Amino acid sequence: MSFWVAVLVALGVGLLGVLYLTGFFRRRRASEPPLDKGLVPWLGHALHFRNDNMDFLKTMQKKHGDIFTTLIAGHYFTFLMDPLSFSAVVRESRNKLDFISFAAELVLRVFRFEASHETHKIIDVSSTKHLKGEGLVVMTQAMMEALQTVLFRWQETSQKDPKSWKEDGLFHFCYNTVFKAGYLALYGTEPSEKQNEKLKQKDQQHTEEVFVEFRKYDKLFPRLSYALLTPLEWGQVKKIWNYFWQVLSVKNVYQKDNISRWISDQSQQLAESGISEDMRDRFMFLLLWAAQGNTGPASFWLLEFLMKHPKAMEEVKKEIEEVVKKSGQDVASRQKPLNVTKEMLSQTPILDSAVQETLRLVAVPMLIRLVLQDMDLKLHNGKSYQLRKGDKISLFPYLSAHMDPEIHQEPQAFKYDRFLSQNGNKKEFFKNGEKVNYFTMPWGAGTSMCPGRYFATNEIKLFTFLMLACFDLELINQQEEIPAINKTRYGFGVMHPVNDVQFRYRCRC
Ligand code: HEM
Repeated sequence: MSFWVAVLVALGVGLLGVLYLTGFFRRRRASEPPLDKGLVPWLGHALHFRNDNMDFLKTMQKKHGDIFTTLIAGHYFTFLMDPLSFSAVVRESRNKLDFISFAAELVLRVFRFEASHETHKIIDVSSTKHLKGEGLVVMTQAMMEALQTVLFRWQETSQKDPKSWKEDGLFHFCYNTVFKAGYLALYGTEPSEKQNEKLKQKDQQHTEEVFVEFRKYDKLFPRLSYALLTPLEWGQVKKIWNYFWQVLSVKNVYQKDNISRWISDQSQQLAESGISEDMRDRFMFLLLWAAQGNTGPASFWLLEFLMKHPKAMEEVKKEIEEVVKKSGQDVASRQKPLNVTKEMLSQTPILDSAVQETLRLVAVPMLIRLVLQDMDLKLHNGKSYQLRKGDKISLFPYLSAHMDPEIHQEPQAFKYDRFLSQNGNKKEFFKNGEKVNYFTMPWGAGTSMCPGRYFATNEIKLFTFLMLACFDLELINQQEEIPAINKTRYGFGVMHPVNDVQFRYRCRC
């Protein structure tokens, strides 16, 4: 009898322990944000959150206001929805709100890479050196040359009848082209001593193969991040990892010509910090993912929006034509394709505004920080809330700023000139009569802000510039609506469309 009592007591204690660990007993303290644990222990609101971040947050905001804490798969997330208060999170010191600890967990899951403050610093230092200032000029030129290769030398239209129409899915075309060019610019080309026609074809075949594998991973990525893969999908992910760790291995990449300093410097610095070669191979894939997963989709949306808004297309084209004319170049020469320089890119305010507007509509990051110590968070309205050590605090600027009708009138509409400065003054945005500093945040903010943002912008602009200056473009079905965005990717950068749209293009040169 006493044996069974002991078993029951042990089970009871075990159950209490599990309930305690899953936060069953957690109650809101007086000075804390409203707490919403949902109905299912541990899981909380995980399903609603995963299926549609935006809808989940709208529902919660309606119920609780501008700050609330929710349980999501065993983690407590506090969401701050008021954009006027964002600086309280973005500018808080790193010993209170930490980006790396949370990011490292995710990076380990999705790349099997052990990230640390040191690796973050290496990315930061190298990006400042090679993706800004003089380094950006070099990278922009490398991207330009790579785009010329992909668009003018590799396209089938360039072979038999260069001026014939060619049809493709616009999303596929943009992603494929920008990916391949970005890959060549960052990871280099076949060694020059072997540069003959066959090896040029090898670059072409190789980049296509890498793109296909990348897209497989891309599709699995959201479910991989949420640890929701089926055993079959797990098998696929492992295969893709092995493929990239081999193709992008330090040994392989160093065989190439024209490898960017951004890549080679980071690899070298990791080696100098004593990080193993295996880990460095994995880091290469992480960089590929960060650098290549967003610019192609963003380029797609920009072209799609322009094609669906004739006035915007006309204005952007006019601006581009003037810049080309001023540069004294001729777009009609295949032998010497248009060379767009960083200097030329600085003369396109209308295109800049259209890019910013595109990112407002389709760039959906989620900023997450781990709370390292119990602390107070002071909001813009003067109220203070206590945050608990071990919880996460999160911003979702897409809902709080990008889509706020008070900050951006008709937020669903593409207005190419929304960000165009007037009389040389930068456009300002307001909420409740107060100036909003974080009116769009496609690149994140603070310590986790995208270190590649200037290069990314130039990539998108170069591609669009070449497409509008040198090609005729038409949607196959002019009446077709702009596709909806795939909501399962909310929080993972630039959105994908739920379906592709067919278009045709023809080189004018
Ligand atoms: C439209 C294109 C792009 C968008 C919207 C974008 C957006 C972002 C965002 C929001 C983050 C922060 C993620 C977080 O808070 O967890 C980030 C990180 C990062 N991005 Fe970008 N990005 C783009 C293109 C690029 C490019 C072209 C590069 C490099 C060539 C790049 C390199 C990186 C790296 C290395 C990180 C991680 C930084 C770190 O954790 O230390 N990104 N990006």
